[in-house]
Amino acid sequence: MDNVTDEIKSRLDIVEVIQEYLPQLKQAGANWKTLCPFHNEKSPSFTVSREKQIWHCFGCSEGGDIFSFVMKMEGVEFVDALRILAKKANVILKKQDQQLTNQRARLLDICQLSANFYHQILIKMPSGEIARKYFTKRKISSPTAKDFQLGFAPDSWENLTNFLLSKGFKENEIVESGMAIKSANLFAKNKSLTFFQKKVRDKIYDRFRNRLMFPICDVHENVIGFSGRILEDKKDEAKYINTPQTLIYNKSQVLYGLNKAKQEIRKENLAVMVEGNMDVISSHQAGIKNVIACSGTALTLEQIKLLKRYSFNLALAFDIDPAGQKATKRGIDNAWQQEMNIKIIKLPEGKDPDECIKKDANVWQKAIKDSQSIMEYYFDSVFLNSDLSKVENKKSAAKILLPIISKLTNKIEQAHWLQKLGEFLNIDEQILRDSIIKKNASFNSRSIIKEKNDSLIDKQVSLVDGQNLLLEEKIIGMIFKFHKNLKKIILEFPLNILQNKKLSELAKNFIKDYIKNEEKFTEDKWIKSISKEMTDYFNTLIFTTEKDFSDFDSSIEYEIQKNINILKKNKKKNLKK
Ligand code: CTP
Ligand code: MN
Repeated sequence: MDNVTDEIKSRLDIVEVIQEYLPQLKQAGANWKTLCPFHNEKSPSFTVSREKQIWHCFGCSEGGDIFSFVMKMEGVEFVDALRILAKKANVILKKQDQQLTNQRARLLDICQLSANFYHQILIKMPSGEIARKYFTKRKISSPTAKDFQLGFAPDSWENLTNFLLSKGFKENEIVESGMAIKSANLFAKNKSLTFFQKKVRDKIYDRFRNRLMFPICDVHENVIGFSGRILEDKKDEAKYINTPQTLIYNKSQVLYGLNKAKQEIRKENLAVMVEGNMDVISSHQAGIKNVIACSGTALTLEQIKLLKRYSFNLALAFDIDPAGQKATKRGIDNAWQQEMNIKIIKLPEGKDPDECIKKDANVWQKAIKDSQSIMEYYFDSVFLNSDLSKVENKKSAAKILLPIISKLTNKIEQAHWLQKLGEFLNIDEQILRDSIIKKNASFNSRSIIKEKNDSLIDKQVSLVDGQNLLLEEKIIGMIFKFHKNLKKIILEFPLNILQNKKLSELAKNFIKDYIKNEEKFTEDKWIKSISKEMTDYFNTLIFTTEKDFSDFDSSIEYEIQKNINILKKNKKKNLKK
């Protein structure tokens, strides 16, 4: 086993592997640095050492080797990281050193074998003739069909199932991979079954029958599921049937074609997103390869994260409606908030990319080149056919565009579009700006925290000097936030300097538990032992400290000690008075 991991490590460079996930990883002195993918931060503390072939984050203290990185990044177990990296390193894993008999790996094997099975039928079996004709009609060449492992599931209930059983897979595994369905599920609700139904109740049968098969791959070229298209569109049957959620397939985490497109997306620094599988395949066949499909659903956060590994620029080639509450729009808003640059590709006469390419691939290429920024697109679609002499129209335009502009994270961009909107509507820009601010205020979490704090202070201010209370809260907040590194300060903390009753009670409780458990102290456990009110107070203090933290220019210990001393002095003064 050790031999395999060593072999893989010796063949791969940790910097290159991590760069595939984090393209922003840049050399800084002897090491390589970027923003940590495992916690939120503004300045890079994620560090990679090429020399030692390890990584470490000084912000969240995570770290390890190439395997632990892939495990964390992909959210997978060691064996899966091993599989992924072995593939990259061109190391073949022997069956016997496979701890790879785990379930995920077996399901991956089933999917790959199924893809091969369907592909063979498509390219050479008599039963595949009808599918060969179909793809010819749609101008899909043989090399393209091979490249995308396209296939055909003939009109049979047990073709694939029998094949997989003959390869040694168990029925339940085949069902769990999504390739077959247990017929018991069909009868579960029927109490009285016919003899025939009883006989077939425990059988399993192929999920995909009489369908063109599009394997869906993860970015490492593993087949994880399928889309099956009907041969001729019929009203009473779904055009596509897809693998359901399985241990290895989660539709919100994949993008069709990304395995084929990723290099090109990085090279062009642009991902082109289309709606359908056929659009992806056509575009690749025409040599435009930075193209992926969302497969007809809204873009999820997971997919955006995946895309950002390759490029921050995304061009969409499907209809979106700025006023609509459509799922597509939500997906775009997601991407936008993740600071991706979004452009819109306009195709002539509402054609889809596939049709467009079949007519003239240059038109498609040009449309990508001429893509429009999404704000321009939104402005156009709101104003192009609108009569702005009517107040009604002005109002509704503002109603659509203002919320979109208010979501822009880049303030310069926001100012630009506010000004544009002001010009269009002939309304003072400041009025528009005010309406955004007013709207945002009620949602701003920071202002809620501040209000909470103020009300806490209000209640206490008659009892204790307000300024001292702020100091007390600051000290305790810092202790709460950084307790892991403050053992000495906590053990020696002069609890009697706290005059605020509630704060003192909370701090006492915390310190008592901390001393009692020593190394084993955990915040989570302690929190469970205190009241809801106290928990809220605790969280407020943590937030306030986090907000102020950036202002500290010295060490935390020094800062705390300094504040304790000030507090002590103040107290003495008060006593004298
Ligand atoms: N889709 C789906 N289930 C459906 C319809 C569509 O999962 N019942 C997904 C498929 O991934 C499909 C995408 O939505 O690729 C876009 O749908 P559509 O444009 O209808 O399909 P195309 O792939 O363009 O197919 P074709 O060109 O062959 O009509
Ligand atoms: Mn289509």
